Amino acid sequence: MAVRGVGLLTRLPLCVQRRSRVQLPILRLLSCPGTVAADPRREEQPSGSAETGSEDKTPKKRFSEGLYAVVEFCQKESVDSLQNGAHTPSMSTEAVIPFRSRYFNLKLKNPSNQTSQQSHIQCSNQLPPSSKKIFELLRCAESIDDQLNSLLKEFQLTEENTKLRYLTCSLVEDIAAAYFPDCTVRPFGSSVNTFGKLGCDLDMFLDLDEIGKLSAVKTAGNFLMEFQVKNIPSGRIATQKILSVIGECLDHFGPGCVGVQKILNARCPLVRFSHHASGFQCDLTTNNRIALKSSELLYIYGALDSRVRALVFTVRCWARAHSLTSSIPGAWITNFSLTMIVIFFLQRRSPPILPTLDSLKNLAGAEDKCIIEGNNCTFIRDLSRIKPSGNTETLELLLKEFFEYFGNFAFNKNSINIRQGKEQNKPDSSPLHIQNPFETSLNISKNVSQSQLQKFVDLARESAWILQQEGQDRPSPSSNQPWGLAALLLPSIANGMALARKKGKKPINETVKNLLESIKSNSAENSTNTHRK
Ligand code: GTP
Ligand code: MG
Repeated sequence: MAVRGVGLLTRLPLCVQRRSRVQLPILRLLSCPGTVAADPRREEQPSGSAETGSEDKTPKKRFSEGLYAVVEFCQKESVDSLQNGAHTPSMSTEAVIPFRSRYFNLKLKNPSNQTSQQSHIQCSNQLPPSSKKIFELLRCAESIDDQLNSLLKEFQLTEENTKLRYLTCSLVEDIAAAYFPDCTVRPFGSSVNTFGKLGCDLDMFLDLDEIGKLSAVKTAGNFLMEFQVKNIPSGRIATQKILSVIGECLDHFGPGCVGVQKILNARCPLVRFSHHASGFQCDLTTNNRIALKSSELLYIYGALDSRVRALVFTVRCWARAHSLTSSIPGAWITNFSLTMIVIFFLQRRSPPILPTLDSLKNLAGAEDKCIIEGNNCTFIRDLSRIKPSGNTETLELLLKEFFEYFGNFAFNKNSINIRQGKEQNKPDSSPLHIQNPFETSLNISKNVSQSQLQKFVDLARESAWILQQEGQDRPSPSSNQPWGLAALLLPSIANGMALARKKGKKPINETVKNLLESIKSNSAENSTNTHRK
């Protein structure tokens, strides 16, 4: 969507808009998380289960006032004329900052009797599905393959949600342009790499490089004309300064930007804030161009085979349900790392489902060449030139094998490497080593602690075991019992069994008891192994 100048985000009770005489060429109306009265994430979880995978990155604060609508105009001039027709509100007790944005409030001059019409509004919800809905869908599915595909369908970003992400970037771009005219703000990460789940954060890249490219360098004559600039000791300090002022600007002047935090000492400095109307948790960065390239690479991998996204979404939901991932930064594995792990696993199948990054590099043409800060980020981008895989394994089999593979992976000595698609010796003692595909000396999972890795391994084993049992003893479709993927999303085997006992089901048999024991003893063994280097 060409959003710049044509997108308009406005807060309006719809009845006001219907009754008012303002002529808006409205193409689409949608409500955002802020407009939802009840929080579906608080719905009772079936069978006492954990969340099925809500990223939980929507701002915690609930915004109850009014509805929001995105209004698209055919012509940029229409937005200009609307802006010319809007005025800055005057407050009796507070002062306002007269910032002209594309974010409006529409108010009825006479606000009486507007409530009667509100019930007719068709809202489009931007939140992830509730756990209850997911468990119901999974229960009714015909096969485990069907379950994985249903999960993907329910959680993936809708076209509307993606457009809202682009629009939000363009609104932030308007603010950044106050300092850097012609800058661009682009989404990256899961908002665009096709692995984003409804409710995931919005990663934004403030691109200042285009500014330099706009001015043509004059080659003729004796003089070379340059902008006078300030010199700063390093690129990192420049990034911190830029993000610092943009952060201030968002905080003080940015309509709808709330909870602004400047996290400038992080490895990758960023400004984090919540965007009020869209409900997105936003992370604005400026010096990580490689992350854009990673997003492009993941997009390519996601598009190569329809099983990739279904498996990644499932593993992400599974990890979230078991609190392996979190919206709070810490010693947990990230969604980005989980995606890499799944890609690696699919490269290891026989025949491989996904090609290695090195083979994508070898297929690249001159137009694909890309070096960023000395790192070779070249890979083929024309999907039609990549040979489809001959592998026909089902999603059910892949999921089971995924858990088995990582339940037994020698994390204590091996590193995961999607560039070569094979295990490598770990170069350092980090519990989990996943090579950064473009900055190959870096480990993208350096933050992961031994105990978090152990939890991942234990859960992978448990899940492999559940799937194995499932194959032999699937409950009848009429029974209410969660099966297949739904069983994997329950907090743990132990809890599941406790619940079954509570509901008066048969006590667990000896085989199950023995298997549980063996999982426990294997875990203890593995824990020692992974500690040993
Ligand atoms: P979710 O937001 O959790 O849905 O996934 P995401 O892929 O968007 O992850 P995140 O928001 O944490 O990061 C955004 C993007 O930054 C990722 O897609 C990667 O391209 C990049 N990124 C994240 N973590 C790392 C890291 O540790 N190393 C590198 N090189 N890039 C990273
Ligand atoms: Mg993200």
